[in-house]
Amino acid sequence: MSKEAKLELDGKSYSLPTLEGSEGEKAVDISSLRADSGYITLDESYGNTGSCISKITFIDGEKGILRYRGIPIEEMAEKSTFVEAAYLIIYGSLPNRAQLRRFSDLFTEHQFLHEDMKYHFESFATTAHPMAILSAMINAASCFDDGLMHWHWGQANSQFENYAAKLMSQVRTIAAYSYRKSRGLPLIYPKKAYKYTANFLHMMYSTPYEDYEIKLEVVRALDLIFLLHADHEQNCSTSTVRMVASSQANLFASCSAGVCALWGPLHGGANQAVLEMLEEIHRTGDDGSKFIAAAKDKNSGKKLMGFGHRVYKNYDPRAKIIKRSCDEVLAKLRINDPLLDIAKNLEEAALKDSYFVERKLYPNVDFYSGIIMRAIGIPVEMFPVIFAIGRMPGWIANYKEIMEDSKSRISRPRQIYTGPGLNHYVPMEERK
Ligand code: CMC
Repeated sequence: MSKEAKLELDGKSYSLPTLEGSEGEKAVDISSLRADSGYITLDESYGNTGSCISKITFIDGEKGILRYRGIPIEEMAEKSTFVEAAYLIIYGSLPNRAQLRRFSDLFTEHQFLHEDMKYHFESFATTAHPMAILSAMINAASCFDDGLMHWHWGQANSQFENYAAKLMSQVRTIAAYSYRKSRGLPLIYPKKAYKYTANFLHMMYSTPYEDYEIKLEVVRALDLIFLLHADHEQNCSTSTVRMVASSQANLFASCSAGVCALWGPLHGGANQAVLEMLEEIHRTGDDGSKFIAAAKDKNSGKKLMGFGHRVYKNYDPRAKIIKRSCDEVLAKLRINDPLLDIAKNLEEAALKDSYFVERKLYPNVDFYSGIIMRAIGIPVEMFPVIFAIGRMPGWIANYKEIMEDSKSRISRPRQIYTGPGLNHYVPMEERK
């Protein structure tokens, strides 16, 4: 028999059911509390609120564990690829050879954008941030598809495989185009011969005269970054996607909202902020100590970017893998980046500093990823875009999960109102 929680309020006792996840995570189900007692629960920023039941990704922040559909991230990083991980995350199990082939073929089938989309790209200011372009163009892409424009899950579900692959494939094309647009460069079309990540690099860096030289170590490093970002259970962007999906909005609209949520410097924009921080430290000749002192001072407006996490109170397992990859890639490409030394010194100093130790602040996935991206020539404003391409399978899987749940309702949180009491309209001439 499952345990019940007892709550005493205004002299009455309420029994609240509890539930337990497959890894022992426990929850008190308060969904009927307001109807029974008139009380809601308040948990600003959702530090202790489960918003859904999900089978996709498991995180144990205290132990530094991350698993996609049960498989540890370390195993995925060592043995898998981004496309295979995407299949696992979206469909729940590793694909067999035929399934993986079909999934890849669908990417190829959908990789071209509608030609008229080029005009949309032309109208962005050259200074536009590629995350703004990405979000807008994902939505714009849906306008060229009748099924997305007249989306109804009951009909769309049989086509979901197509739409999922179309979104994953086109986000890569849009991302590369947004970079080329921001540099005033001619657009480069995708090529059938290339796999997912190589094709992205080709669209980013080839010219109309010459194909970009695809280096295996570069492809592998970027593919690993995509894979490590592929899902991370509930977080600002994924919960945004679920929130929008709960209104039955189409897949593209829901994921384009995820891009906007991801853009901020506290979330997917952190990788860009880390690199800018490292560059500032380098430029000012600081050995890192001045920056660390500022990050500890709440009035400075500075934080040690790439450090800390709402859930991880231990080393982010993705950061360990990225740090190793960073050393390998830089060695293979024979790049000696002073920013890597600064990052390592900062990490060492912070991990010994009582401010960071007491608050359990460790490097997160964004701390070293920017150095790899810089080494392979990706400009800093594209860093959050890389995160968005990587996170697409997680958003798609969460979208699918919510749409397949027959009990799913529109998300509608409550609030505690603290504004004025009943007030009345005052005509303009009587206002002070
Ligand atoms: N530098 C300095 N102090 C920090 C930092 C930091 N990076 N992160 C947290 N703190 C402090 C925070 O001010 C608070 O101090 P106090 O207890 O004195 O008020 C304490 O540590 C606890 O913070 P928290 O409640 O754990 O933080 P949070 O859950 O509200 O925010 C976070 C999590 C990731 C937004 C925050 O750690 C942060 O802003 N980090 C820098 C940005 C960053 O790297 N973001 C990427 C996150 S990983 C990628 C992703 O999944 O989005």
